[in-house]
Amino acid sequence: MHLDVSRHFFSKEIVKQYIDTLAKYQLNYFHWHLTDDQGWRIEIKKYPKLTEVGAWRKEKDSTTYGGFYTQDDVHEIVKYASSKSITVIPEIDLPGHSTAAIAAYPFLGCTGKPVSVSNRWGIHKDILCPTDTTFHFLFNVLDEICALFPSPYIHIGGDEVPKQQWMQNPFCKQLMKEKNLKSGEQIQHYFMKQLEDYLLTKGRRSIMWGEAIRGGINDSTLVMSWRGKGAGIKGAKHGNQVIMAPRFYCYFDYPQTAKDKKHAWWMTYIPVKKVERFTPKSKLLSAEQNKNIIGGEATLWTEYVTNEKELWHQLVPRIAALGKALSKP
Ligand code: ACM
Repeated sequence: MHLDVSRHFFSKEIVKQYIDTLAKYQLNYFHWHLTDDQGWRIEIKKYPKLTEVGAWRKEKDSTTYGGFYTQDDVHEIVKYASSKSITVIPEIDLPGHSTAAIAAYPFLGCTGKPVSVSNRWGIHKDILCPTDTTFHFLFNVLDEICALFPSPYIHIGGDEVPKQQWMQNPFCKQLMKEKNLKSGEQIQHYFMKQLEDYLLTKGRRSIMWGEAIRGGINDSTLVMSWRGKGAGIKGAKHGNQVIMAPRFYCYFDYPQTAKDKKHAWWMTYIPVKKVERFTPKSKLLSAEQNKNIIGGEATLWTEYVTNEKELWHQLVPRIAALGKALSKP
């Protein structure tokens, strides 16, 4: 089970209660979405501005919204989860969904221009530039992440990356020539691979959202399929391990019934009955290929989940159905 704490921040105490709920329904991994355009929520000692600047956004009404977890908080939460047999998988979402990081350190971006931590939802054009300086920075961040999280898996994002800034950037044009990269997707593959290879030297496997494999796929990548099962099927056929989180079954930010508000046109209703029918395996794969699907996950994005009451409403009872669906052989 996933939780986005970037769009709305949830206190350490609520995160512990969230973990209690996962344990109650026998879910074994907590995917903690810690960074996004609207806030960077984990203290990184080497780069203090990530939270001094990146954890706070100016709302449209001029109020400031934000918060972050100190490394002490993170230690406490990881230990707490472990006492309940839950592994915490941190997500640092790269190279898109990174406006908060670029706001803190503009040299990470493609334009060098200052940007603000975002106060609106959606896909953002400011993305990380694939320079050695950016990778040096990210390796240092990942060093601290690996020290905090014993998880064998680290999620490095890879979803919803608009490629315009790369395509217009002189450095990227040169990089494409040097590395023989033919498209924005291939630049993204290059980007993700630098991080994946670095994490492998530290004994960690990388999880990426489905679209990250469009420009190429490495054998060790774990694919998290969310737009549907398509990317997962592609990954499984290639021999990669896959986690299925297809949005029509597993996106718990979507409304449950007509009684719930539908916040965006692309949301569908996901009642408990639908979650009960979720199966991570696919009929389009052979028995052997289906073995590559190692699990399923539901997400809880929080653009429209603004407080604790709404959080539990979106999570329960669907999490019970998820636990049941995933315990089937
Ligand atoms: C996602 O929902 N953007 C992974």
